[in-house]
Amino acid sequence: MRTIQVNLSRNNYKIQIGSGLLSQVGNTLIAMGFRGKAVIITNPTVRALYGEILLSEIRKAGFETVILEVPDGEEYKSLEWAGRLYNQLHDFQTERMTPVLALGGGVIGDLAGFVAATFMRGLPLLQLPTTLLAQVDSSIGGKVAVNHGKLKNTVGTFYQPQIVIADNSVLKTLPGEEIANGMAEIIKYGIIRDQGLFEIIEKNLDNLSAQNESLLEELIARCAAIKAEVVEKDETDLGPRNILNLGHTIGHAIETASDFQIEHGKGVAVGIIAAGKISRNMGILSQPDLERMGKVISEAGLPVRINGLKIADILQAMQHDKKKAGGKVRFVLPKKIGDVFISDEVTVLQVERVLEELI
Ligand SMILES: NC(=O)c1ccc[n+]([C@@H]2O[C@H](COP(=O)([O-])OP(=O)(O)OC[C@H]3O[C@@H](n4cnc5c(N)ncnc54)[C@H](O)[C@@H]3O)[C@@H](O)[C@H]2O)c1
Ligand SMILES: [Zn+2]
Repeated sequence: MRTIQVNLSRNNYKIQIGSGLLSQVGNTLIAMGFRGKAVIITNPTVRALYGEILLSEIRKAGFETVILEVPDGEEYKSLEWAGRLYNQLHDFQTERMTPVLALGGGVIGDLAGFVAATFMRGLPLLQLPTTLLAQVDSSIGGKVAVNHGKLKNTVGTFYQPQIVIADNSVLKTLPGEEIANGMAEIIKYGIIRDQGLFEIIEKNLDNLSAQNESLLEELIARCAAIKAEVVEKDETDLGPRNILNLGHTIGHAIETASDFQIEHGKGVAVGIIAAGKISRNMGILSQPDLERMGKVISEAGLPVRINGLKIADILQAMQHDKKKAGGKVRFVLPKKIGDVFISDEVTVLQVERVLEELI
């Protein structure tokens, strides 16, 4: 098991990464000082695979435990389902110190986190991420939210968990597409901050499967450490956290322009290539580094270009982001593998030029 410490102004917590950690959660709860009741929030897919095992482990440790279920899908990350969970927490006679365990991918982590943050003005939250994306990204950093109509992740708050327990053995049941989605974020971390991580991915391109537990544990730990460090510097996302958005400016616009038919990881993959090309055209990123990025992305099962979208729609979606950011589109651009810079000066023409090659 590897442990990463997150030190924030008001609280500190650990991220644990290792195979088989879910079967120790009962003891972990006791060691953290919890007694009495515990609540698991999950979805039917994850419940069938890991929910019952977790439930019996926690009961064995002496907790009165209930599993609350939300259907599987982004559309249930809503105020309506938060409301249903509030009722169920009330029925269970949840107390202020009853821990909420969010067992699932980013959807469950965000929704259960939002519910834990708001019910009785805050219940202790444990993040038990079960997707690669959730283990390297969404479970760390305290952003919790629900969607509201077309407003994605707009109703939310910052609420840090008391611990993140990432059991990488659960990734074996994750569909290949979801592994690829998580890989997009892992590649992103390598490019923004960790050349060594990028080289490990390059060396293991034939070996990047969820079956390779020790490799995944290493990748997850390195990414979690980067996210923890960035969050420590900028808990409420006012500046330095921006670097985590590499590939996301154009990536989000691609997702939006496709009416969310193109998944996040795929949008980010093409967004990373676009950012690389913009930087290359400015004479900053080297051609060999740009090619290494393209190779890693395609070998990880992600696209380096996307057909069937209109460039005008992508630019339009970016205009929306621009309004949110106070009039400028902020780009994170790679300087070289392992280092990035931020620019507010990228012109529409520069973006159009690279999109013409990629779309
Ligand atoms: N809070 C943050 O900082 C942050 C960051 C990034 C993304 N997000 C949010 O995360 C969400 C996306 O998360 P995601 O990619 O994990 O998607 P997800 O939660 O929808 O999970 C993807 C699919 O995998 C299934 N699944 C989960 N674990 C499994 C396992 N071990 N084996 C088999 N199947 C499993 C789920 O049931 C689901 O069908 C979005 O709502 C996004 O907004 C939040
Ligand atoms: Zn992302």
